[in-house]
Amino acid sequence: MRKYLWSDGQIPTLDNHSKCKHEIIRDYLTKYLEIVSQPLNRFPNRSLKITIVDGFAGGGKYQYQDNIVDGSPLILLNTVAEAKAGIRSLNPKTPIQFEEDFIFVEKNQQTAQYLQGEIRKEGFQNKSQVLCGEFGHYLPTIIAQIKKKSNNRQDGRSIFILDQYGYSDVLIKQIKCILNNSNAEIILTFAVDALITYLDESKQNALSRIGFSQKDFQQFRRNQSNRDKCRSIIQHRMSSIFYGLNYFFTPFFIISDNSKSQGGYWLIHISRHYRARQEMVGLHWDKGNISQHYGTSGINMLGYRSKFDEDYTKQLTLPHSSFRFDVAASQQTHEALHREIGNYLYKNIQSGSAITVKKLKQGITNHTPGSDQDIQKALDSLKEEKSITIKGNANSDKRIITVERQLVIKMG
Ligand SMILES: C[S@@+](CC[C@H](N)C(=O)[O-])C[C@H]1O[C@@H](n2cnc3c(N)ncnc32)[C@H](O)[C@@H]1O
Repeated sequence: MRKYLWSDGQIPTLDNHSKCKHEIIRDYLTKYLEIVSQPLNRFPNRSLKITIVDGFAGGGKYQYQDNIVDGSPLILLNTVAEAKAGIRSLNPKTPIQFEEDFIFVEKNQQTAQYLQGEIRKEGFQNKSQVLCGEFGHYLPTIIAQIKKKSNNRQDGRSIFILDQYGYSDVLIKQIKCILNNSNAEIILTFAVDALITYLDESKQNALSRIGFSQKDFQQFRRNQSNRDKCRSIIQHRMSSIFYGLNYFFTPFFIISDNSKSQGGYWLIHISRHYRARQEMVGLHWDKGNISQHYGTSGINMLGYRSKFDEDYTKQLTLPHSSFRFDVAASQQTHEALHREIGNYLYKNIQSGSAITVKKLKQGITNHTPGSDQDIQKALDSLKEEKSITIKGNANSDKRIITVERQLVIKMG
């Protein structure tokens, strides 16, 4: 696998996939800060306490074409500084306070020193800690620090950027530990194309540590020459682990140039909030062609059984061509959501019973590449054609859906 080395006079080159990944991190963090600060703006003395952890920090700078550009630590520092200035300017007389801290973990000593130098050059040293060593080693201390900073779980927010070097350095038990102990969101990457390229028998143990069974491994080996098929196997097999966490999550790929290029990432975003999932899925749509998904477009995108819809699920064969969050994918999504949400409601909401819009959306969101607007659009068109009724205040998620019994939609 490619080495990332930072030392005086030498910095690594950033590839297009990583540039796209950085854009997603930057844009998501900006949105996140805008959203979580909104309720605080009404209470002048309140402060936003947030800890941002970059578990695989690198040296902070890259060569990209003819320019030197920021790596994830400096992106995080600069994005928070810019967002903070923007948010405080909305309410200049009594701006909300920010208590932001940054923790950067980097295993390589030379790289950690390089990063420290870059942080100092840009004047961020007071808010930042650079820890030299393995992320797993420091995790308990980091969690203790976040807890100490919070009065309660709600106000001690944190975001963990786990942009690991390969695919096996972040363990599922570490993810559970982060989620169970703090009000955290996680952006996790797997360097899937590197895994596909360099896979051999010696990798089986590392893969079993992240939940890959022996059968998955063998299936992977048999299909190693087919990159799309391997990405599809990863998304289908490994998503079951993330479904098991019972959090909101997105499991899509970031692949910049074309399907033949070899540096793509699988990017997982995990949060306890429906809104957070919607913002991330919205970014995948906004970024269009750099995002990919190897499943279907409705409410059963990876073929897992939704507890909401035991009857509906059919055994899927793994798709090997991808869904690219483009105009064609959007059209497919609208059609599939209209058909499948209609079917789901017809089969599951008995005569005389009902479901709230909120419960429906929360139940299906992890199972669709569609956004909140896409789900809403499907509900609106079902209502318009009089297949369902929706009662309650416009735009409220407490509205109640009932099904008109004459609804007949063919199973797609
Ligand atoms: C891909 S590079 C840096 C990426 C960085 N997030 C960015 O986008 O700028 C990954 C870095 O993780 C470091 N690393 C590898 N294993 C690690 C571990 N277990 N704990 C902490 N850092 C690690 C490597 O030394 C390397 O500098």
